[in-house]
Amino acid sequence: MSVEKTQQVLELLKQYKQDHIINFMNTLNDEEKELLENQILSIDFNQLTELYDSTKRKCEIKESKIEAIQYFDKQKLGNSKKMQLDDLGERIVSTGKYAVVTMAGGQGSRLEHPGPKGTFRLDVYGKGKYLFEILIDNLKEANKKYGVVIPWYIMTSKENHEETKNFLEKHAYFGYDRNSVILFQQGELPLIDYNGKLLIGKNKLIKLASDGNGGTFTSLRTTGALADMKERGIEWVFIGGVDNVLLKMVDTTLLGLAIEQKVEIASKSIPKANPQEKVGVFCKMNGHPKVIEYTELPEKMAEEVTSDGELKYGESHIMCNLFTIDAVEKISKEPLMYHQAKKKNSYLDETGREIIPQEANAYKFEAFIFDAFPFFDNIAILRGKREEDFAPVKNKEGVDSPKTAKELYEKYWN
Ligand code: UD1
Repeated sequence: MSVEKTQQVLELLKQYKQDHIINFMNTLNDEEKELLENQILSIDFNQLTELYDSTKRKCEIKESKIEAIQYFDKQKLGNSKKMQLDDLGERIVSTGKYAVVTMAGGQGSRLEHPGPKGTFRLDVYGKGKYLFEILIDNLKEANKKYGVVIPWYIMTSKENHEETKNFLEKHAYFGYDRNSVILFQQGELPLIDYNGKLLIGKNKLIKLASDGNGGTFTSLRTTGALADMKERGIEWVFIGGVDNVLLKMVDTTLLGLAIEQKVEIASKSIPKANPQEKVGVFCKMNGHPKVIEYTELPEKMAEEVTSDGELKYGESHIMCNLFTIDAVEKISKEPLMYHQAKKKNSYLDETGREIIPQEANAYKFEAFIFDAFPFFDNIAILRGKREEDFAPVKNKEGVDSPKTAKELYEKYWN
């Protein structure tokens, strides 16, 4: 262990008012201390200060700068228009220029599933299917239709990477071409308590957590997955979630619309079921496309209706997004804003004793995928249908639960 390194770490901790860690270090042996020091040197303390300062600012949505967004309704396109768009999209997919990314870094905590969400088994048709298996079925169907093997990039988190990899290997990738499945890991950020202090975990290191699904872009670049896409000649990248069992990852109408509209990003929406539904909604802010997350949408805006009785902000973001490869690269170099969530987190105090709080005590910071949209002037939005496009598995019971997803899935496939 070098004296200079220790000195550098102590200065950093003092400068950024993390003295509790200096005290905690006295409880560690040389090996533990070295690991912690290395970790501390990898932390961006400036960013940490900015993140903590951001918790003091109120996130205000200025309604005057917000307008409803234009969309195309898939049901109203007409046959010849639909065929024309499908043809445009098909040319990309069938020539191997299309890749799919699944963001699978989340754990099924709301679902109370112990493990990566994609390993949750939905009880469909008696024998059940894993969420990953359902996604693979969708890709295999497209491969057959377009005579290709679509490269599939799965974003995992540090927490669930090994388990995801082992699961897929155990199931032989459900018959998918092994060389076309690429796992890459998303980044992490430290948790900070309400006083701006870093937390120490049971492993005697600073507690980190996944940096949100907006981390997809940077992680694609830093892990080499983006370079791999370029090598394969990919031009369009679909990025979707892991938990919607009706997600259409290869929709040539959506892709054709993006090409026809000459935009770099596109998204499928569905009409919001009711003002309280827990989905992000599309809008335009300062002339740029944007999604306002359900946790941040003011009640008044959520309830606003147009003259024809539809919700003004009623186009739901269903995590069905398309980007050109250049757009992915561009976003991967831009800093996305971080949203904060208050979470309950146990930690070790300065003496190494574990403290288990009864209430939320720390901020977790997450970037959201759709915060990339405002970097562009336009987005093509294709309105789909709930019964065809959206059956999420989010909660253990009630809305968006395995029960509702099973019903929608079985109805669709009947
Ligand atoms: C998400 C969307 C919301 C949309 C809804 C539709 C975000 C921030 N919100 O809400 O706008 O209306 O889905 O179902 O995207 N994930 C990671 N890494 C992370 C966090 C999440 O890969 O660090 C993945 C999850 O595995 C999942 C997806 O992102 O596939 C959605 O994440 P989740 O946090 O469950 O978002 P929702 O609250 O459901």
